[in-house]
Amino acid sequence: MKKIKIINGPNLNMLGNREPEVYGALTLDEIKKSTEKQILKKNIACTLDWYQSNIEGEIVTEIQKTSLAKYDALIINPAAYSHTSIAILDALRLLKIPIIEVHLTNIHGREEIRQTMLTAKAASIIMGGLGKNTYLVAVLATIEL
Ligand code: DQA
Repeated sequence: MKKIKIINGPNLNMLGNREPEVYGALTLDEIKKSTEKQILKKNIACTLDWYQSNIEGEIVTEIQKTSLAKYDALIINPAAYSHTSIAILDALRLLKIPIIEVHLTNIHGREEIRQTMLTAKAASIIMGGLGKNTYLVAVLATIEL
């Protein structure tokens, strides 16, 4: 049974309300439930441990805890911190497991401010533009690879 940690950064708790034309109509909880449901339906033996915080230091601490626990992979959407956080980049470098950095949107097709990718420097895989299917596809990639 694979154990996967999923960390979500700032403002992702506001999905559903937050710019639905950009991020879609579903809340993070709805995306979580639909991801879990699809995984069950596909008979994939894995447990997903979800975490969300708006606070950079809390995300750093959660990554540190992940590094000390027994996880097979980390899926992380650092949200706006993807573009700014050396602290999260450094924490990610503690991990010895695959890191899949995901984005709901295709950030490369968006504003200039989103073109700097700091945390992605520590990632094994980066994915974007899959909207509500983001976490499901990231889990499938993790299991396949
Ligand atoms: C995001 C993209 C980031 O640029 C943005 O700040 C987010 C969400 C995404 O999932 O597309 O909060 O990470």
